[in-house]
Amino acid sequence: MKAAVVEAINRQINSELGASYSYLAMSAWCERQKFTGAARWLRLQSQEEYMHAMKLFDFILARDAQVDLKPLEKPRQKFKSLADVFERALAQEQEVSRQIDALYETAFKEKAFAAVAELQWFLTEQVEEEKTAREIVAKFKLIGNDPAALIDLDRELGERVSAAAPSTPATT
Ligand code: FEO
Repeated sequence: MKAAVVEAINRQINSELGASYSYLAMSAWCERQKFTGAARWLRLQSQEEYMHAMKLFDFILARDAQVDLKPLEKPRQKFKSLADVFERALAQEQEVSRQIDALYETAFKEKAFAAVAELQWFLTEQVEEEKTAREIVAKFKLIGNDPAALIDLDRELGERVSAAAPSTPATT
């Protein structure tokens, strides 16, 4: 793979790990506010982002290229409300979608076709991730500050079963 593509994928590994770190900080905040359902949801989402990073990590190694792990930014750790947490989660997903689009464009321009194929999974995944976050934000808008509804929504978020693993191994 061309150096520009490897570098762009390495930057995306950093972004996915940054998203994982950020969700972990959100989870800790929710746990301390006793929104344990949201805390669980966010912890699982953190694991999912870690798996996204590892999918790219494994892809770079499968292409016999150099993994370059970069420093992680300190994530935001204070939030105004539970709704604020999920609004930031949505903004984060929108930013990741922009990054994946740019990465896809780089891979395409450089004719890195294996990377283009690999990144198709991420394009589809981002549609799903944005949709999920947008739906949660919409629910928070709907319920406002109604405590009973907030407790219900927290319980609903806590029903999330697991982090969705990438469906295809990176090396196929
Ligand atoms: Fe890996 Fe939520 O983007």
